[in-house]
Amino acid sequence: MSEQIYLEKSLSVAVYPPLKRALGVVDTTLPMVAVDAGCGAGRDALFMVEHGYTVHAYDKSDAAIARLEEVGERYIHQTLFPKVSCFEQFVYPRTALINACSSLFFCDPGLFASAWQNLTRSLLKGGVFCGHFMGPDDSWAKMGRGDLSIHTYSDIQALFKDAFRVIDIIEHNTQGKTLLGKPKQWHIYAVVAQKVI
Ligand SMILES: C[S@@+](CC[C@H](N)C(=O)[O-])C[C@H]1O[C@@H](n2cnc3c(N)ncnc32)[C@H](O)[C@@H]1O
Repeated sequence: MSEQIYLEKSLSVAVYPPLKRALGVVDTTLPMVAVDAGCGAGRDALFMVEHGYTVHAYDKSDAAIARLEEVGERYIHQTLFPKVSCFEQFVYPRTALINACSSLFFCDPGLFASAWQNLTRSLLKGGVFCGHFMGPDDSWAKMGRGDLSIHTYSDIQALFKDAFRVIDIIEHNTQGKTLLGKPKQWHIYAVVAQKVI
């Protein structure tokens, strides 16, 4: 039930700034193929479709993909390809843009390294990653729940150091609310980075 409420709310909020930034820096000579990783109801996937991309959008949640199939009906199997899948198993196409806003930190930490390799391998040279990482001060990180991938600033630098030019790492460490209205400390790094090899 709360997932359905979340999905509806997520469709009415603005696209995240890193995705807008990424669209401005991606090499426009690349094939216009994008992935939305952990897409939820697909607000960002639809935004990319509406900017001319063919978008492969996946989420582990059946309900999320069903909702994306409804809201994106007019694009389905033309420029929008939704799929139930997960970070470590999704078979990525060669892609110019990967969006992982508010999603990748839900990856099981034991699977993060292979999920990250899977994701970055598919990005073409000149392609752009945009997304969020969760820092150690986040109230969910402090709960020690063990099912979230937590990264410090230097962990993030290490993830990008070999194959990317980092464009932005913007830290947000602030008291706020979830989309469902629950107060929490958010410690989030918003990252935009361009593949250079
Ligand atoms: C906070 S929501 C964000 C959804 C969407 N990116 C947005 O901004 O509206 C996080 C999403 O990650 C998905 N998710 C969690 N673990 C996942 C996994 N292992 N593989 C793929 N998706 C996952 C959830 O089902 C959920 O839809």
